[in-house]
Amino acid sequence: MKNLIDILDLSLDEIFNLIETAIKIKNDPSRYLEKCKYKKMATLFFEPSTRTRLSFEAAMYELGGNVIGFSDAQSSSAAKGESVSDTAKVISCYSDIMVIRHPKEGAPLVASMNAAVPVINAGDGGHNHPTQTLTDLMTVYLEKKRLNNFTIGFCGDLKFGRTVHSLISTLCRHKNVKIILISPENLNLPSYMISNYINKNHIECIEANDLESVMPELDILYMTRLQKERFTGAQDFESLNNSYILTLNKLKSAKKDLCIMHPLPRVNEIETAVDADPRACYFKQVLNGKYIRMALILKLLEIE
Ligand code: CP
Repeated sequence: MKNLIDILDLSLDEIFNLIETAIKIKNDPSRYLEKCKYKKMATLFFEPSTRTRLSFEAAMYELGGNVIGFSDAQSSSAAKGESVSDTAKVISCYSDIMVIRHPKEGAPLVASMNAAVPVINAGDGGHNHPTQTLTDLMTVYLEKKRLNNFTIGFCGDLKFGRTVHSLISTLCRHKNVKIILISPENLNLPSYMISNYINKNHIECIEANDLESVMPELDILYMTRLQKERFTGAQDFESLNNSYILTLNKLKSAKKDLCIMHPLPRVNEIETAVDADPRACYFKQVLNGKYIRMALILKLLEIE
């Protein structure tokens, strides 16, 4: 049995195979309508979600399977004090595969150590969000026709943003990727990310104070919202909240084929006028997320 807890659980070949399968499904979804007939997926969401939970559920339904689960910890026996490990043992009796989002880093790993079925991490605290990263990589591949040789800027909350951490950790395995980090001083990328991934893999990386100065250089711009739910009282959310807002005006100096990405939800960091720009890819990401999750479910259930 295989789980997906960290994006680095997958080799680059495995990731590419998943993207290829997802593209095949996207191009001919009718071939996959009964692949998961009689299979059940459990979605255990201890934290709010729109895209990840509903795309997993749509993915399983479009594969002909069924879905059980909860979208709020308060409606599960976690509210009575049940542990993640016991929950995983229990849900294994009802499902063939389990998807878990939890505010505590490491909770999906604990679930996987106690489950009798494959476990997928749907986001754990500020740590990792591997299926968002698969979504992001599929989008880069469809937009750029390559997964190497580009400059990518990460803008916003690089401290708490788990989508950023996941994507950077795997991009550091790719050839000729330059990373530009644009964040308020208090929301810099954690030092373990710099040492364990960027420096260890000799990745070219610079920090910038503003979007405008680096915009002409970027092939991909990865915007993120401030992760308000992970701020502690000592951190001043309000003073940082408007630090970086992408506007049409700021895009004037950008490349014609810039790919603007955002894992969503958006709060105020991309003005809505940008949505109509052909370089805006964040709603394409949403759709790709369903197909790559279909491919992942098939892989973990070992269905051809
Ligand atoms: N991108 C993402 O994880 O969105 P949700 O929080 O809505 O699942």
